[in-house]
Amino acid sequence: MRIDSLQLFQFRNYKDITIKFNPEIIVLHGDNGVGKTNILESIYVGTIGKSHRTNDTADMLMFNADESGIVINFEKRETAQKVNLKLYRKGSKDIRLNDTKISQKELIGTLNTVIFCPEDLQLIKGNPSGRRRFLDMEISQTSATYYHQLLQYNRLLQQRNTLLKEYRGKQSIPLEEWDLQLADMAAFIVKKRLESLKKINLLIDLMNRKLTAGQENLTIGYEQNYGDENTIVYTRDEFYQLLQEALPQDRHRLTTSVGPHRDDLRFFSGAMDLKKYGSQGQQRTAVLSLKLSELEFIKSEVGEYPVLLLDDVLSELDELRRSNLLHFIHKRIQTFITTTDIHDFKYMDHVQFIKCKGGTINATNGKP
Ligand SMILES: Nc1ncnc2c1ncn2[C@@H]1O[C@H](COP(=O)(O)OP(=O)(O)OP(=O)(O)O)[C@@H](O)[C@H]1O
Ligand SMILES: [Mg+2]
Repeated sequence: MRIDSLQLFQFRNYKDITIKFNPEIIVLHGDNGVGKTNILESIYVGTIGKSHRTNDTADMLMFNADESGIVINFEKRETAQKVNLKLYRKGSKDIRLNDTKISQKELIGTLNTVIFCPEDLQLIKGNPSGRRRFLDMEISQTSATYYHQLLQYNRLLQQRNTLLKEYRGKQSIPLEEWDLQLADMAAFIVKKRLESLKKINLLIDLMNRKLTAGQENLTIGYEQNYGDENTIVYTRDEFYQLLQEALPQDRHRLTTSVGPHRDDLRFFSGAMDLKKYGSQGQQRTAVLSLKLSELEFIKSEVGEYPVLLLDDVLSELDELRRSNLLHFIHKRIQTFITTTDIHDFKYMDHVQFIKCKGGTINATNGKP
C-alpha cells in the first residue's frame, strides 16, 4: 500500500495544497503548531472517514470555511485508486472511491493505515474504551462485516438503554426482541475479537521479543466482568441468558451491563499485569510491539503492509527502540513521520523531507 499524492482544500490550516510523496519514508518537519499532525490527520480521515483526534467534523474545516476537501491517490495491490472526501460544516460527508459515491462504512478497509501517536502510549494505562476502539478499528480495517455488525450492535444497545429509561418503574418491559438480536451480535463480535486476538498474540510476542532481544514475552488477554470468572462468554445462548439474569440490575441502573461494549484487554509480560506492575519503559515497548503487530496483522489479512503514520512518537522512544523501529519499516512500509527535529534522519537514504511552514509546505528529496 502506498500513497502517491495528497490534496487538501480548506483543511485545518491548509488553504489549498497538493503534495506528491515518495514510496518510502516521508519526514514532515517544522516548528510546533505549523500543521504536521494536520497532514497525518487528513490521511487518517481518508482511512476511516473520521479523525483520530476529534469527533466533530467541523473542527477540521478551516476557520470560517463551509466545506473542506481531501483527495488521496494511492496504490493498493499495484492498482491506482483515489479517495475523495468532502466535509461540510452543515450536512453529511460526501465520500467517493474512484469517483463513485460510497458510504463511510464502505470506505473502511479501502486505504489501510496504522497510526501511532503520543496518546497511544496511554493504551495500556488508560480506559478500557481506548483498548476496545483499538481492537475494533484494527479488525474493521480487515473486515467490513465486523464494522457493520459493530455499528448495528451499538445502535441496538442505545435503543435498549432508551427503553430501560422509558419503562423505568413499570412492571414489565418488552425487551425480548432486542435481547435476542443483541445476543446474536454480541456473539459475533466477541468471536471475531477472540479469533483476531489469537493472531495478534502470535505476532505481538514475536515483535516484543525482537524489541527486547528475546527477554520478555508479551500476551494480550480478553476480559469480561460478567459470566463465569474463568471462561469467556461468546455464544448467543449464553449472552441471551446473561442479559436476562442481569435485567433487574440493568433496570435499576438504566444501562446494559452485559456485552462486548463492556469487555477489555489486559497486557501481560509473563504472568505480570503490565497495567498494574509494568514500568513506563515496559509499557512503551508493549505499545510499540502492539503497533508493529497491527502492521503484520493487516498484512496477513489484506495481503500487503498498510501505510504507517508516526506522529511525534520517535522522540518518545529510546535510541534502541527507535533504531529497531526504523529497521523494521525500512524498505517495506511507506511511513510518514512528524518531528520537530530532523537530526535522526539526516543521514538516512530514500527520505523525502517536507517542511511545514504554517499553511504552506516545501518538499525536497534526499536533503532537508
Ligand atoms: N480548523 C482549523 N482552521 C485553521 N487552522 C487550524 C484549524 N485547526 C487547527 N489549526 C491550526 O493548525 C495548527 C496546528 O497544527 P498541527 O497540530 O498539525 O501542528 P503540529 O505541526 O503537529 O505541531 P506540534 O509539533 O506541536 O505537534 C495550529 O496553528 C492551529 O491554529
Ligand atoms: Mg503535532
